[in-house]
Amino acid sequence: MTIEPGDRALFDNAEAILRDNDRGAYTVPTKGLYPFQWNWDSCLTALGQRHFDEARAWTEIETLLAHQWPDGMVPHIVFHAPDDGYFPGPAVWATDRPTPTSGITQPPVLGFVLLRLFAEANDKVLARKRASALLPKADHWHRWFYASRDPAGTGLVAILHPWESGRDNSIDWDEALARVPTDGVAPYQRRDTQHVDAAERPTQGEYDRYLWLVQKFRSLGWDNSKLHDASAFKVVDPGFNAILIRSDEALGELAEMLGDDEIAAAARGRVAKARAAFLQLWSEKDGQFLCYDRVVEKLGASCSVGGLLPLLAGLGDTDRLVDTVHRWRGKVAFGVPSHDPSDPRFEPKRYWRGPCWLVVNHMLADGLARSGRLDAAAEIVADSLGLIRKSGFAEYYDPRDGSALGGRHFTWTAAMVVELLSAGRA
Ligand code: GLC
Repeated sequence: MTIEPGDRALFDNAEAILRDNDRGAYTVPTKGLYPFQWNWDSCLTALGQRHFDEARAWTEIETLLAHQWPDGMVPHIVFHAPDDGYFPGPAVWATDRPTPTSGITQPPVLGFVLLRLFAEANDKVLARKRASALLPKADHWHRWFYASRDPAGTGLVAILHPWESGRDNSIDWDEALARVPTDGVAPYQRRDTQHVDAAERPTQGEYDRYLWLVQKFRSLGWDNSKLHDASAFKVVDPGFNAILIRSDEALGELAEMLGDDEIAAAARGRVAKARAAFLQLWSEKDGQFLCYDRVVEKLGASCSVGGLLPLLAGLGDTDRLVDTVHRWRGKVAFGVPSHDPSDPRFEPKRYWRGPCWLVVNHMLADGLARSGRLDAAAEIVADSLGLIRKSGFAEYYDPRDGSALGGRHFTWTAAMVVELLSAGRA
């Protein structure tokens, strides 16, 4: 791999962050604010780690999957070591696992990460050995999604908690979350606002509802055969489903390369069904996809970046989606904002209600490049590196001026920089 001289320092800084946040067999997103292992953070982190230590990248994913539930779910947080700087911790989740975990999941980026790790590995022998052991686990997780989160067999899965989307407080959830009650939520103290300005985090009202859902699921013993139908929050998110589709496609390809025809065929079957069902989420008026609320059975009215993420899987009309990205970009200094900047609900500093996130930028650029829109992909990569050069490795950024927001010294932001700088140069 060769890195342009001007980018070398950036690469080295990113690598130093990844090493600094490394706890041996897993990496924390950042010290203080997030002291455990997060599901999609870890997978995307491995994409960066592989450029300086392939064996370590495989370990990151193996550690996550060592905590897969017997039913197939891969939890969103693994609480490896006690730390009371984070809320809600293991006692609130009460999932009764050997190593405590949360009881919900996160976007399944695992599949496409595994394929990339395997297909682009320098050490092919190592890659075959490690990927072969991980493949059935990833397949189990994907089967779990359709069994537990699509019990009616529609082809699309629902998230049951906003945290599952990875875009915690997106405007996408406002309507559905407003129907979640808050009665009976045990008194609690948030920890996030001790680390980060409250104006950059979700509101108290949102937190009460997040916790009500956790308490509800806990009262059902975290039994995934009951959770879907019992949940007051049930949303089909185009971003989440697109990630699952792309990962399932990747799993099929990986299985084929590893000679597992059964897994390959099953993955292809799921993808075909999901792709056909996906088009119901398209909004012609908005030029993007929208969330479908399974409780009230209608499409939402919120144009977030979740509705552009289907670019990752080549879903929908790429040119229309690119027009939407350009329309948003015309209103801010850096792309891609997490919500349409012309929506009065847009909040450029508050977490997933406006700021730019490098992991999202990476997925959009990757999908665009795959669909042949190299021009649009390059614009997003240029904005991403522009944000880093201006404000360092933050958790997220204000799209109006590129200023740093949330946590600093942030793992997945650093991983994306390593990946972006290395892309196409391996
Ligand atoms: C926040 C983000 C989520 C991420 C986690 C750790 O909760 O919304 O996507 O996984 O932080 O970085």
